[in-house]
Amino acid sequence: MDYIEYINSILKPKTTEKEVILDLFAGCGGLSLGFEAAGYKTIGFEMDKAAAVTYQNNLGSDCHAIKLDLDFVYPDAEIIIGGPPCQPFSVGGYQKGIEDARDGFPVFIDAVRKLQPKVFMFENVRGLLYTNKWYFHLVINELSKLGYIIDYRLLNAVNYGVPQNRERLFVFGHRAKFNFPKPQLKKVTVGEAIGDIMFTVPDGSKFLTESMDTYVAKYEKASSCINPRDLYADKPARTLTCRNLAGATGDMQRVRLKDGRRRRLLHREAARLQSFPDWYEFTGNETQQYNQIGNAVPPLLAYQLALALKECYKMDELYTKEEILEKDLQANNVLTLF
Ligand SMILES: C[S@@+](CC[C@H](N)C(=O)[O-])C[C@H]1O[C@@H](n2cnc3c(N)ncnc32)[C@H](O)[C@@H]1O
Repeated sequence: MDYIEYINSILKPKTTEKEVILDLFAGCGGLSLGFEAAGYKTIGFEMDKAAAVTYQNNLGSDCHAIKLDLDFVYPDAEIIIGGPPCQPFSVGGYQKGIEDARDGFPVFIDAVRKLQPKVFMFENVRGLLYTNKWYFHLVINELSKLGYIIDYRLLNAVNYGVPQNRERLFVFGHRAKFNFPKPQLKKVTVGEAIGDIMFTVPDGSKFLTESMDTYVAKYEKASSCINPRDLYADKPARTLTCRNLAGATGDMQRVRLKDGRRRRLLHREAARLQSFPDWYEFTGNETQQYNQIGNAVPPLLAYQLALALKECYKMDELYTKEEILEKDLQANNVLTLF
């Protein structure tokens, strides 16, 4: 089965499990789609109205268009997942960490404290392990103190069937044993994902202007870039972000047509490179849709994480909260990296 057939068929909501999962900071539902394909019903919480509508229209679940805060009262749930806002930690961000008003971790920790789920997971940018590792330490310390064993790893989506190099941090909290999904050997290429569209000029195509081409050439020269940063059919894509999809920047995502023109990536192309199936429709204006796609956890990776989390969830707990705290079990993981 080829890539497009595969994602279109496997990434469909199913409800084989009785548990309901809360997805905090749910965006357009990339993470939730993976969990719904693994059999779970999800409930999303997302303050951006257009993203919440995308979620609600595509998934078999509700997405509450609200801004989460520390006073929020959650419905009961045994599994919490989420993508707390990551701008403060991106390499290009302000690096303000805990002082940044857009920081979602206090809310995520508060939800875990209030609901005491059996398992939880969150995703974040890799910068949290580097420039902002002091902050990461703080976050997992707080979560550990609630009586959870914490496992975390940087995963590159390209090793999980997604045609894109995208490294993100995944953190799991539990009281049993968690095994990360095994990476695959075969990498999927841009050509396999969008080969049927990438050299065409569909209606509404947007091209880089002459001045943007000049800007790109300058940018590439200044950053000693050997290969132009166009997409190559025989390789996976570089990381898709809100900035390089929606913004007119020197490193914006584009394809180079056979006549030499550079065309901006279409929403559908970007969605495929993020492993969204073709039936997934995005709502909002052009920029809102690019942002939803660029922000998402690739659903195909989310699906594999969901299966791993399901295994952990179904296991009998090996330790009680008290045992974890008494034996300082949670500290093993916390200390390895610091
Ligand atoms: C990284 S994106 C999440 C992407 C999502 N996990 C996915 O896979 O599609 C983070 C989202 O958090 C939302 N957000 C930020 N602060 C929020 C808050 N206080 N309450 C609800 N949503 C919030 C943003 O609008 C953004 O869509």
